[in-house]
Amino acid sequence: MKRNLRIAPSLLSADFARLGEEVRAVTAAGADFLHFDVMDNHYVPNLTVGPLVCAAIKPHATIPIDVHLMVKPVDRIVPDFAKAGASIISFHPEASEHVDRTIGLIHEQGCKAGLVFNPATPLDWLMHVIDKLDLVLIMSVNPGFGGQSFIPHALEKLKAARKLVDAAMERSGREILLEVDGGVKVDNIGAIAAAGADTFVAGSAVFGTPDYRATIAAMRAQLATAGGAQ
Ligand code: DX5
Ligand code: ZN
Repeated sequence: MKRNLRIAPSLLSADFARLGEEVRAVTAAGADFLHFDVMDNHYVPNLTVGPLVCAAIKPHATIPIDVHLMVKPVDRIVPDFAKAGASIISFHPEASEHVDRTIGLIHEQGCKAGLVFNPATPLDWLMHVIDKLDLVLIMSVNPGFGGQSFIPHALEKLKAARKLVDAAMERSGREILLEVDGGVKVDNIGAIAAAGADTFVAGSAVFGTPDYRATIAAMRAQLATAGGAQ
């Protein structure tokens, strides 16, 4: 099946002192989404940025802002990110008391909704909500930090998630993205695409290189030979 493949550089590895400039640079280099990691030093052991910084980059953003909430609780902060310009808001099921309600809230706020699966979180959470989701995000590291190594088991999970996502898209005719986050690099992105991912978060692999355009082009070249998915 022909799929749209999207690269979503994670701003977590950008230079925060020059964030607007980094957003423009990575967009000009060919990014499809801006992945925006929100950590609260409670749900995950790190602290990053909130709606204020999302609103600050919004005027520089000509591509969708893909907000990844690693916060608990979730619902209080959702409207703030909608107002701050998020296009997609994803959250972890363990961080919400009422997963179905949170998905509804994200939609009410005019954003697309994603559910995020940690390495040890079973895909069972999808059973009753997949038809309401716009994105499924498979974590290939434990959340909290950039620059960690890809956990190989994520490939098996992506294959299983691909089947569930394809079946749901077949049922509803709606597009559901299958995103992967953590340790994605030029040298493994082909195998990750072959396992079924269509949207690729890459933080250190993009911002850790001097030429973002060359890195994103190298990723696309790997995707082009990854067997079928385009
Ligand atoms: C980790 C974050 C990731 C992180 C990815 O908790 O959700 O988005 O920035 O960074 P890399 O690509 O360096 O693993
Ligand atoms: Zn992320």
